[in-house]
Amino acid sequence: MNFHLVSIFPHYFESPLQSGLMGKAVENGLVSLDYVDVRRFAGGVHKSVDDRPFGGGPGMLLKLDPMVKALDSVERKGRILMLSPRGKPFNQAQAKALSQEEDVTLICGRYEGIDERLLDLYPIELVSVGDFVLNGGEIGAVCMVEAIARLLPGFMGHEDSGEEESFSAGLLEYPHYTRPEDYDGLAVPEVLRSGDHGKIADWRRECSLSATLSDRPDLLPNARLTVEDIDFLRAQPRTRLGRNLYIALCHYPVVNKFGEKVAVSVTNLDLHDMARVARSYGLGGFYATTPIEDQKALADRLLSHWKEGAGSQANPDRAEAFSKVKVFDDIESAVLDIEAQTGQCPRLAATSARLDRRKEAEPALTCSEVQKWLANSPVLLIFGTGHGLAEEVLSKADGIMRPVRYLDDYNHLSVRSAVAIIVDRLIADEY
Ligand SMILES: C[S@@+](CC[C@H](N)C(=O)[O-])C[C@H]1O[C@@H](n2cnc3c(N)ncnc32)[C@H](O)[C@@H]1O
Repeated sequence: MNFHLVSIFPHYFESPLQSGLMGKAVENGLVSLDYVDVRRFAGGVHKSVDDRPFGGGPGMLLKLDPMVKALDSVERKGRILMLSPRGKPFNQAQAKALSQEEDVTLICGRYEGIDERLLDLYPIELVSVGDFVLNGGEIGAVCMVEAIARLLPGFMGHEDSGEEESFSAGLLEYPHYTRPEDYDGLAVPEVLRSGDHGKIADWRRECSLSATLSDRPDLLPNARLTVEDIDFLRAQPRTRLGRNLYIALCHYPVVNKFGEKVAVSVTNLDLHDMARVARSYGLGGFYATTPIEDQKALADRLLSHWKEGAGSQANPDRAEAFSKVKVFDDIESAVLDIEAQTGQCPRLAATSARLDRRKEAEPALTCSEVQKWLANSPVLLIFGTGHGLAEEVLSKADGIMRPVRYLDDYNHLSVRSAVAIIVDRLIADEY
């Protein structure tokens, strides 16, 4: 396989790509490394490769002409990738796909990057090695070359090494140990010394599963899991963001379709469905708020039917869901209740189907901002009935969440649907 590395610092690659297995792969012809020195293609006495950006701003840019000439000097470019923090994140699946290619060209930027018109001239794919900014693309290119080349048949000692590693099966890898068996009292796990290959395989699978659950739960949705894997994962301890999340359904003050402040009736369906979300996601609690006495009485009757009355006999699961529900006059009382339970004043995140377009408005809250709050303190997520929460509730919140489907023109969801979607996004563990 041939890598063409286009850079203004080709010597940068020498040591890392000549060492260890990579050095051997180059020696025995499995991998060829073609260093394309952009400076060789620069004109003028100074062989300058950079210039100032149009429009001003700090830093310099790599000029187009030397880059074009450098690229044109590569006869068989194959797929052309350019290292850029703007690119798609590089991963094991891409390394696998690229390892099937005969030629791959990697363009390394420097300074503030490269004149954008290079992308108009060649079918270049932008690729990033992470959400951080490096001085240049060379070190990212080294990562990519190594990740791709080691998947070539014959690169590693034995062919299955690549299959068992982290990410290959959508999970992190299990831990490894070598001699001595005991290092100052730190023993190698018994099972690895048992010689029982079935047990060793089970232990390794379980270690992979629990490491992924605790360190990279975002990998689990795409991992191929058996029922046994799922049963194992269910029994593992995990951080539950849900315990800090409380939801409130406000029936007053909300607005009607004319923007007037009104009270809306309590509905059976909202209470059932929100209680079930609260229980399913392990939330701290669900507050239905209304100051209207007959509405509170209605909600209380409903609760007692399902929690203690005939409903609880007929459907104990529903009783469990309703144990999460409390009926209060207003949001302030819900806040005091959370404070009494947790010893902390909850942060208030309001929800709305509309963007706040006032000039002085803060940018809407993102899920990750609310998740950060949840890691340290209780959060009360407030939903409105009718046509949404009245200004006096919105203005007391610490922020308003971005509407669900904010890029689309129709986003008229029922409050029950919005609750389910937003809670799921906030908990975001996809279990
Ligand atoms: C200082 S960076 C330029 C950053 C650029 N102005 C920006 O903010 O996106 C110089 C070069 O380093 C490389 N680079 C920096 N960070 C990278 C990353 N996370 N992944 C891939 N390449 C990166 C790119 O080739 C980039 O053109």
